[in-house]
Amino acid sequence: MLSGKTILIGITGGIAAYKICDLIRMFKRSSANVRVVCTPNALNFVTRLTLQSLSGNEVAVEQFEVNEFKPEHISCADEADIMVIAPCSANTFSKIANGCCDNLLTSIVCAFNKPVIIAPAMNCNMWENPIIQENFARLSGFEILEPESGFLACGTRGQGRLCKIEKIYDKTVEILANSRKLAGKKIVITSGGTIENIDPVRFLSNHSSGKTGTALAQNAAAQGAEVVLITTADAPGGGIKTVKVQSALDMQAAVEKESGTADCIIMSAAVADYRPKEVSAQKLKKADDNELSVKLVKNPDILQELCKNKREGQIIVGFCAESENLIENAKAKIQHKGCDYLIANDISRSDIGFGSDENEVYIIDKNLNIKKLDKAPKTVIAAKILEEVL
Ligand code: PMT
Repeated sequence: MLSGKTILIGITGGIAAYKICDLIRMFKRSSANVRVVCTPNALNFVTRLTLQSLSGNEVAVEQFEVNEFKPEHISCADEADIMVIAPCSANTFSKIANGCCDNLLTSIVCAFNKPVIIAPAMNCNMWENPIIQENFARLSGFEILEPESGFLACGTRGQGRLCKIEKIYDKTVEILANSRKLAGKKIVITSGGTIENIDPVRFLSNHSSGKTGTALAQNAAAQGAEVVLITTADAPGGGIKTVKVQSALDMQAAVEKESGTADCIIMSAAVADYRPKEVSAQKLKKADDNELSVKLVKNPDILQELCKNKREGQIIVGFCAESENLIENAKAKIQHKGCDYLIANDISRSDIGFGSDENEVYIIDKNLNIKKLDKAPKTVIAAKILEEVL
């Protein structure tokens, strides 16, 4: 069932590590290639020789082994189709949530742009600790199989026990069956708010954080697409090609360069409609006058231009930020811009839209059919948008 798939199992230091021996055997029986990476503490609970014998592969532990001119964490990440971290200790769980890369396992997760399943196991008080729960919320882009309740190895009862290994196995099979759906597709995504300089100190911009574009890029990459993220925000890493831009004109040039070969273009960026007509080379000085006028000129409409030059079969998705009459304005906008889909959101709400971790959107197609996606983390909204438009 898993023939041709490589599963990378990450094991951390916890008593449930012994159960992973059976999980490895289940994957092997289904013809998967299994690679194992351990934290040094994991080897206190299960031996390297056992894991090596069961998986049929060398077990990786050291961070700075170099394999065929590639650091170990990059070769492991490249080779695997999915990563399963079980048991995941409170320590590793928190490190992953905060992007720490202090050992081979955590470095691999940080560089991994394919699906990751995490099955935490720890003492119930640790699991209930607000810091661990906060980290749990931060890991929304990962498939977390929550610990189960019952008798724990430390002698107490509560939620903390590693979930059943059959559950980990089933989830792995399910994800692999659904993944790589976008293999062979090139998707260009714009993200963040453009920055239009007034002088070397001041600029015009907006509140876009780039979270939406990043979530779309990560999800598309996890499904096997070749992704180009054109953004004013930070690069998400994980092997996603990122082009950093600043102004609307920069963004337009980058989009034009990539769009010809794209199967799908998603314009989630908040692009300035106007820019200062002149950018002062020197810092503007305060004058006695109580007013200062900055003359603005119109920026090109990148989305509209793309739609005019759209090639056969290409899918173009715009976003629509409105503070009033959301649906009415979005319907007029999709007709004016000419895109295949428009994702409308209400940016007057503080709990969704600009900067927040969640959004609630309406997907409108060119025939003006509307589908509402209820409020959810942007990672979930991104997955649903890609599912709908592709
Ligand atoms: O980045 P986050 O903090 O996660 O916030 C996400 C978001 C609120 C920025 C996102 O959900 C969103 O609404 N993006 C679109 C913002 C916007 O510019 O909307 P608009 O209605 O003004 O523009 C409509 C479409 O035309 C957009 O796809 C925009 O990228 C595009 N456009 C706009 C102006 C312009 N000159 N060129 C364009 O291509």
